[in-house]
Amino acid sequence: MDFDKSKVTITIMDFNDLNQISDCLQNEFDNFWTYDILKEELSSEHSTYLVAKIDGQIIGFAGFKNIFNEAELMNIIVHKSFRNCGIGNLLMKNIMLELKARKIATVHLEVAKNNIYAIHLYKKFGFYEVGLRKNYYKNDDAILMELTIN
Ligand SMILES: CC(C)(COP(=O)(O)OP(=O)(O)OC[C@H]1O[C@@H](n2cnc3c(N)ncnc32)[C@H](O)[C@@H]1OP(=O)(O)O)[C@@H](O)C(=O)NCCC(=O)NCCS
Repeated sequence: MDFDKSKVTITIMDFNDLNQISDCLQNEFDNFWTYDILKEELSSEHSTYLVAKIDGQIIGFAGFKNIFNEAELMNIIVHKSFRNCGIGNLLMKNIMLELKARKIATVHLEVAKNNIYAIHLYKKFGFYEVGLRKNYYKNDDAILMELTIN
């Protein structure tokens, strides 16, 4: 996809954003998270979600949940047509800023073992593997990763 990356904005996700993508969560965002789960996430005082947009169109989102100084990265999803263009990196960079602003010390996540691009992205931002959950997903194991922020 050819687009002007300097036009991409990152903002805190709100209910209007969620409603905008409700119809395309299944096809364009892998049906990774349902509308209802995301609605619950956005309603939680413990959750922070970021959304990437270009010309008002949502092209990715990512979020974490935190309690005190521990967080769990819940998801990061880029619109199918905009993958491998740096949006994942941009979202992660901004997630890191939000984590640091909240003085989070440790972040956890789970990722499917075959999800090589996501694992590559997480490692790039300092996550390291701490465990494996066999058959955690329908067709795959889960790698457990952790990040320590000083
Ligand atoms: C994982 C995901 C969020 C990455 O988003 P993205 O916008 O494609 O990421 P980027 O373009 O910033 O690329 C991230 C890195 O992966 C590499 N990469 C991504 N897609 C690639 C591809 N198809 N071929 C080769 N490398 C690829 C990039 O080169 C980049 O590496 P670099 O930072 O060392 O240059 C995206 O693939 C996605 O939405 N996947 C489906 C949802 C998912 O699995 N989320 C993770 C849940 S745990």
